[in-house]
Amino acid sequence: MIFKKTKHLKGEITVPGDKSISHRSIMLGSIASGITEVHGFLNGADCISSMNCFRQMGVDIDYDGSIVTIHGNGLHGLKAPADTLDVGNSGTTTRLMSGILAAQNFSSRVIGDDSICRRPMKRIITPLAMMRADITSERGNDCAPLIINGRKLKGIHYDSPVASAQVKSCVLLAGLYADGETSVTEPYVSRNHTELMLNAFGGSCTTLGTTATVTSDPVLTGQKIVVPGDISSAAYFLVAGLIAENSEITIKNVGINPTRDGIIDVIKMMGGDITFTNVNADSGEPTADITVKTSSLKGCVIEGDIIPKLIDEIPVIAILACFAEGETVIKDAAELKVKESNRIDVMVNNLSAMGADITGTDDGMIIRGGKPLHSAVIHSKKDHRIAMSFAVAAMCAEGETEILDADCVNISYPDFYRDLENLQK
Ligand code: S3P
Repeated sequence: MIFKKTKHLKGEITVPGDKSISHRSIMLGSIASGITEVHGFLNGADCISSMNCFRQMGVDIDYDGSIVTIHGNGLHGLKAPADTLDVGNSGTTTRLMSGILAAQNFSSRVIGDDSICRRPMKRIITPLAMMRADITSERGNDCAPLIINGRKLKGIHYDSPVASAQVKSCVLLAGLYADGETSVTEPYVSRNHTELMLNAFGGSCTTLGTTATVTSDPVLTGQKIVVPGDISSAAYFLVAGLIAENSEITIKNVGINPTRDGIIDVIKMMGGDITFTNVNADSGEPTADITVKTSSLKGCVIEGDIIPKLIDEIPVIAILACFAEGETVIKDAAELKVKESNRIDVMVNNLSAMGADITGTDDGMIIRGGKPLHSAVIHSKKDHRIAMSFAVAAMCAEGETEILDADCVNISYPDFYRDLENLQK
């Protein structure tokens, strides 16, 4: 797909529903009793993978393109799938669902695409095995396909070496079925959507510092869930509005959960013009309309506990850094190497091809901003966040930029290119 420089970006936009919350609504709705109605569900390939896996386990889920209605089977009501469960490209489906599968009274096999079959699963196999789960990597390489023979689990305390909401959520979901309490401590706090939603469904999940604890065997009852716009999808428009000339964009109804809002802090640190209206902090998942305008930006250091709060936004933050004066240093982000692609290598290679001054490091990257970007052929590596980041970069680069495998945006934002184009009118 070919992209050209834009004159300006102007207007209002509503981004699709939050991916993390959409996945969790399917999983918790499936193991709750009664009906769960999900409004604003993300109709992207990853969340549809979650939906189809739980349908295969006997959960009746209707989706009319607008509202998802889940007829929950109750905590102990999932059925053995007749076939292998295919998670597609979705790490969230793989890791969270494995926590639930480990405790069922049936066996299952979990497969996914080439990218999933390269992503590390030892991080969930280790704590689940501590809970007495029987989970193995079919090829013996600690990746999917996974074979999970469900059995009775025991509660544990797990000190996770990584700040990962997928690992934390996997263990907490397994903990719902375990004997006794289950808790997870992480080095830094990661997104807390599982904890919030578990409590909304009637479960008991407490948080103290970087430790989350669940009580087993809760009575979970179906809920109405309204999914806010995904801040990770909004991020492309936040950056586009800041770096494109003569621009002003308002993104409506964006989720600004404090465990997800690191990009907002970065924009402020860099001196970006960003304002908030219609802030609604009534629920655990607060929302706001966010407006950004073309800004003069300066580089900054991004490290430590902010990293999990913006992990998925780092590719587009790297684009932002190219348009800031001075150096931007991103560290403590080695997790980028094990996302849908190796996002350190892929960002360094593609941004270098566009003329940026960027160096990859073991745990991040260093970008010396201010060098104009020019056209190039971009290898998205079928990673949705890479494709969207470079569509934004191309809006502000000389010449015509080609993005290969651009249709991978279907994973999280099928209408992304249409929405970006509408802001150029
Ligand atoms: C997610 C957690 C993060 C994030 C991913 C979604 C989730 O992954 O990168 O896109 O929904 O829990 P990690 O837990 O691997 O950091």
